[in-house]
Amino acid sequence: MPENLLRHLTLRQLQIFEATVRLGSYTRAAEELFLTQPTVSMQIKKLTETVGLPLFEHIERKISPTEVGQELYQACMGMFDIVENLDSSIASFKGLKRGRLRLGVITTAKYFIPEILGGFCREYPEIDISLKVTNRDRILERISQGEDDLYVLGQMPDEPALESISFAPNPMVVVAQKDHPLTKERNITLERLAQEPLILREPGSGIRDITMRLFRDKGLHPKVRLELGSNEAIKHAVVGGLGVALLSLHTISLEGAAGPVALLDVEGFPVQRQWYLVYPKERNLTLIATAFLEYARKAGPEIDVHMEKLLADFGLNAQTSK
Ligand code: PGA
Repeated sequence: MPENLLRHLTLRQLQIFEATVRLGSYTRAAEELFLTQPTVSMQIKKLTETVGLPLFEHIERKISPTEVGQELYQACMGMFDIVENLDSSIASFKGLKRGRLRLGVITTAKYFIPEILGGFCREYPEIDISLKVTNRDRILERISQGEDDLYVLGQMPDEPALESISFAPNPMVVVAQKDHPLTKERNITLERLAQEPLILREPGSGIRDITMRLFRDKGLHPKVRLELGSNEAIKHAVVGGLGVALLSLHTISLEGAAGPVALLDVEGFPVQRQWYLVYPKERNLTLIATAFLEYARKAGPEIDVHMEKLLADFGLNAQTSK
């Protein structure tokens, strides 16, 4: 690296030099740049010292660049082009025309985040998106490594260094086979539910933690029949009659009440949870991440309406645990 130039040369000096060459006079350069003439002379002197060779020759009462001065003038043109391009790139970012959004979302958020992203990308078509979908433990790891701009979690992390903003409902429901005998019952107790074979998500899953905590808080020990690493696999296992499961209502939002699973009317359900947008407090959000955060927050009420309608289709009331 040209240590001497990098240390001593400033863009401001080059701007003054360029104006002086173009206008052929210190005085006129000073006028154009709203500087005093001694300031212009001083900056040209410093620039000359940095270069180590005279930049101007004085012929009669006019100044014109020396050979090295002309070389520097050409270099200035190239550098100003780069600065101008940089300026317009920065303006594009400010105008959110392009850039990159890195999202890390918890497994179950894959049921609605892509829809939000769809709308967002229609508004900002030149933004590249990277979406990482994984379970709670892995997301917490990604947060600590700073791998993404923004995260979506189903539970507020217990970590003061993180900012968490709730933005959409995440009701937790009990799913069962359509012809399960409990579908005919109302206000099923958790004690009764604990007698049913239970299908659980894998260790590290947020919904698994909540499920186990609910039973534990009542001193209950559910009969875990099977552990599976995906919500879809759990739904299939439920349809196959292997047991019941506690899942986010989002997992059945596509098929709805016409789909192959039923919701059980268990006391305290749906458990009204929230989705959170999370990011480290000490990190400044990128403009794109800020725009996405606002966009997702605006999508919240619509998701709320959708969730309530879905529950009503299943004959359940969203108010149960609100
Ligand atoms: P999970 O978390 O996808 O890791 O189970 C979802 C949630 O906490 O709601």
